[in-house]
Amino acid sequence: MSKGKEDVIVFQQTDDQELIKKLWKVYLDSFADSDDYCAQDQLCYDEITLNEAMKDNDYWKFILLVEGEPIGFCLLTNNMRKARIAYCNDRFFTKKFPKFISEGRFYYVTAICVLPEMQKRGVGIKLLEEVCKFIYENKAMVSYDYSETKNPWLTQIIQRCGRKFAPNSEIFLGKQCYTSLYYDHNGVPD
Ligand SMILES: CC(C)(COP(=O)(O)OP(=O)(O)OC[C@H]1O[C@@H](n2cnc3c(N)ncnc32)[C@H](O)[C@@H]1OP(=O)(O)O)[C@@H](O)C(=O)NCCC(=O)NCCS
Repeated sequence: MSKGKEDVIVFQQTDDQELIKKLWKVYLDSFADSDDYCAQDQLCYDEITLNEAMKDNDYWKFILLVEGEPIGFCLLTNNMRKARIAYCNDRFFTKKFPKFISEGRFYYVTAICVLPEMQKRGVGIKLLEEVCKFIYENKAMVSYDYSETKNPWLTQIIQRCGRKFAPNSEIFLGKQCYTSLYYDHNGVPD
């Protein structure tokens, strides 16, 4: 259970440097443990590109506040060229969902995170619900990728949050495998 009052604010553009600095810290801290789990870098923004995204109308910002302090956020874009920052193939999506994409009704999640010390207290759910509400109300769809090694439970949670507004379905889009080869003869790599 969370302590304190949570709120999610949604906007498309901010130039508030203090807020942006806090969000950069939230982003870095939230993904710190991904270096123990993820072969794919989960930090697709650096401080400069996150700053640019915050000022860019093509990204919708969902900011999770507890007692007025930002402790999590989600970024969504329906500009497929800009979604590429999260290592997705915009040509694949454009072939697969041409109508939704041309109508601006396809959104990609380029970041979602909650500060580690605030995780697993039921606050991230508020963020996910707000994103699902946005998708539902805009007659849109949302796509995202995540590390199954690190977050095997994520899709079930998102679908559950989405069901708060209406029944929803998943279109599974594939898996990327990271693996390796070595010769026993040369010893186990470390
Ligand atoms: C994904 C994330 C935003 C979820 O936020 P959160 O605040 O921890 O989520 P909540 O506490 O609201 O939990 C939501 C549900 O997920 C479950 N959950 C959260 N973390 C979990 C974990 N490590 N293992 C199993 N279940 C987990 C909770 O139990 C809860 O389900 P419940 O309501 O049935 O109990 C957060 O874990 C995070 O920021 N992770 C680091 C960044 C990241 O990996 N982002 C996603 C991929 S890009």
